[in-house]
Amino acid sequence: VLGPSSELNIVNEVVSPDGFPRSAILADGTFPGPLIQAYKNDDFSISVVNNLVDASMPLLTSIHWHGISQRKSNWADGTSFVTQCPIAPGGSFVHRFSTLGQTGTYWYHSHYSTQYCDGLRGPLVIYDPDDPLDGMYDVDDKNTIITLSDWYHNSSLLLNSNTAVVIPDSTLINGLGRYAGGPPSPLAVVDVVQGLRYRFRILGLSCASWFNFTIDGHTMTVIEADGVETLPMVVHSLPVFPGQRYSVVVTADQPIGNYWIRASSNLLPDTFDGGLNSAILRYAGAPEADPATSPGPYELEFNESLLRPLNNMPVPGGAAIGKADVQINLVPGLVGGIFDINGVPYQDPPVPVLLQILSGARHPSQLLPKGSVYELPPNKVIELSFPATDGLPNGANGGPHPVHLHGHNFWVVRSAGNSTANFVNPIKRDTVSMGSQGDNVTVRFVTDNPGPWFWHCHIDWHLHHGFAVVMAESTDETAVQESAVIPREY
Ligand code: C2O
Repeated sequence: VLGPSSELNIVNEVVSPDGFPRSAILADGTFPGPLIQAYKNDDFSISVVNNLVDASMPLLTSIHWHGISQRKSNWADGTSFVTQCPIAPGGSFVHRFSTLGQTGTYWYHSHYSTQYCDGLRGPLVIYDPDDPLDGMYDVDDKNTIITLSDWYHNSSLLLNSNTAVVIPDSTLINGLGRYAGGPPSPLAVVDVVQGLRYRFRILGLSCASWFNFTIDGHTMTVIEADGVETLPMVVHSLPVFPGQRYSVVVTADQPIGNYWIRASSNLLPDTFDGGLNSAILRYAGAPEADPATSPGPYELEFNESLLRPLNNMPVPGGAAIGKADVQINLVPGLVGGIFDINGVPYQDPPVPVLLQILSGARHPSQLLPKGSVYELPPNKVIELSFPATDGLPNGANGGPHPVHLHGHNFWVVRSAGNSTANFVNPIKRDTVSMGSQGDNVTVRFVTDNPGPWFWHCHIDWHLHHGFAVVMAESTDETAVQESAVIPREY
């Protein structure tokens, strides 16, 4: 566990989390990387040190703190070619930022090329000493982290060099798993004591897969989504898209024993034979053995459009689609395996967007990459719609696409699977599924945070193949704010 003032060493190491050894790119040599743990209002100062040497994988790096708003610290967002140049081997970059009241479950990952698929990803939790949720649910333990990820036996450089759909080799839960035909490698064990209540933090650290997460014999009460506290929603199963996080309350109210935890992947066969896609929930007193429990029935389904914030903040702007100050459609396309947004595939610019702004560029006509930068005026209500019109039905191109905006969480006024919008009490979050063809997910936020912010599909292969734009928010204010604070130390 690392604190908010730490050094994060990016290293190459051979690991075999599913029994298959491969060279990987890791934070401090572990997969997932170490938990970074802080308390509400802590200031962060994290030095990312690039010690990479294995040229079969990316040698450059940068680390993004997913979900942290980076107010007044856009420069510390860690996004290669948007807010900074990637860090060269032997170099380092110190991220200083204040989390300004944010609490909950976050993560960090490489934001250079598709490098996080090589392993560079880990959990970040900001605890609230006076957490209202702890009082409401009287949890006995709030430190259980459950990371869900896909894992690949090949270098991301090899996998991203063509545009075919990339199939992972295994699903890892807390960094452990098995692959089809592989050895009976150890599985993750989540220990509980009968009668106690737990807050499990479930993190989607995937490169591409989304998971349907279930625990045999147990329900889960959702109380947090992407750092936003929610009213309780009791579910049997929880869809977790790449980039998304949830806290759930689980009561260990079943007979002492072992129970399968299942993360069913949309990209792998839906089988759990021999412990594939699985971990073990183990009650104190149970034998150290594999569970013999059966899945389902899953009657209580998660429904994002019914998830309510604990502290409702009315949606700004008019109570109808199109009644915001600025309305932008971001329409994905797919031509020859390359994604585009409104007809333009995103490509890394030669100079990071923030540095272009600091050098005097203010408007899309002056900003690179051409056609991929959208200028947002300050202090306005922005409405973004994401019609799922990339030409292929659900799943055929690796969708549904989970889209993520840096610098903000947004009101999800229209969720996937819904044709009506909710302007009264929708959930706020930072990563949302676009759903499948016919869906038109719509979100709103207020431009109160100057800086160029990346918006992209969190399937890392899709980002690499063009599924992104940059929201250049308040460029004049960005230039003033960032030239006052940008560090000179790297
Ligand atoms: Cu989780 Cu642009 O990132």
